[in-house]
Amino acid sequence: MKALVRYKIAVIKGDGIGPEVIREGLKVLQAAADVTPSLDFEFVNFPYGAEHYLKTKELVPEDGLKELSKMDAIYLGAVGDPRVPTGVLEQGVLLKLRFYFEQYVNLRPIKLYPGVPCPLAGKGPEHINFYVVRENNEDFYVSLGGRAEGRSKASLEVSRSIYDVKFGIDVEAQRDEIAYQIGIISRKGAERVMRYAFDLARAKGKTRVTSVDKANVLSHIYKLWRDVFQLVSRDYPGIETEFYFVDAITMAFVRNPESFQVVVTPNMFGDIITDLGAMIQGGMGLAPSGNINPDGLSMFEPIHGSAPTLAGKNLANPIAAILAGQMMLEHLGEHKAASIIEKAVAEILKEGKVRTEDLGGKSSTSEVGDAVAARVKQI
Ligand code: IPM
Ligand code: MN
Repeated sequence: MKALVRYKIAVIKGDGIGPEVIREGLKVLQAAADVTPSLDFEFVNFPYGAEHYLKTKELVPEDGLKELSKMDAIYLGAVGDPRVPTGVLEQGVLLKLRFYFEQYVNLRPIKLYPGVPCPLAGKGPEHINFYVVRENNEDFYVSLGGRAEGRSKASLEVSRSIYDVKFGIDVEAQRDEIAYQIGIISRKGAERVMRYAFDLARAKGKTRVTSVDKANVLSHIYKLWRDVFQLVSRDYPGIETEFYFVDAITMAFVRNPESFQVVVTPNMFGDIITDLGAMIQGGMGLAPSGNINPDGLSMFEPIHGSAPTLAGKNLANPIAAILAGQMMLEHLGEHKAASIIEKAVAEILKEGKVRTEDLGGKSSTSEVGDAVAARVKQI
């Protein structure tokens, strides 16, 4: 018998629907522990998010990062709140954690479960089952950039007649303003995420890895990305490779999703194509992700945001958060408990009796959580 392992899990419920979906996720994780004698959890709450920020002006403080470092994993709901200017919480909490703990892989399975309505005509679960491996620490997410003022005589003429009167703003300073933002790809950063993608392909018995870029236009950074992909692929002779430009891959996700097995992508393109990926797997309510540092602290979260208008109503779909918990168990090496959760989710989805509004049902967030937790205990 396996010795008892008690995992310390940091829980950041966050904002909006975060607390509701995490509540259900914790319920299901606890159910999995209840039926697995060797498995136990200690859940430790961390308050980061809008409420904490508004009260204290603190995002994630240094001593918080130290406390988090002692944990085995982080389980996060969502951050973002209309009372806080856009970007403050996203960058100060979510990206801060992804960067600080060097979670350089953002693993996003795109899997359509039986019984889940798919918006693509003629496509079913046999067509939609692949992984997106999104680079998570570089590219346009490095926060390098700035804004600069500019002035010209001609622009002042226009500005006085239109903007000054109407808005009363200092157009003289703003009229010719510019902004720029720099993307960075490093050889090391590209290589490590690509190796992860190829290793994942091997581990899952997949035969092809697809690389995404825009090397035809942003050729400095994405040609480097391509070069590294070609080099790394040499170490995996059994695995086929292909390239897609990011615009073309959005077409292919819709037209022939069955052709994909493992897709490795720079950070920002990965952000964009995984919202599309979420839609073809049945919606944002079903899409989980893992921010992974294979040698460090990883963080698991649903891909969806805080959905402020849905918050507090017990209507949000908790499946994405539940599956994020399942990915966390997988990552911790608790394969049996992870597969029990996945099976429970798959059964509940297939039966279709308990489902939230986004899937055409009438059930509440907690009813879905209860149903999955109960099923976990029956498997
Ligand atoms: C995601 C989100 C984040 C991202 C935001 C909230 C910073 O959209 O996890 O996909 O852009 O990575
Ligand atoms: Mn996103």
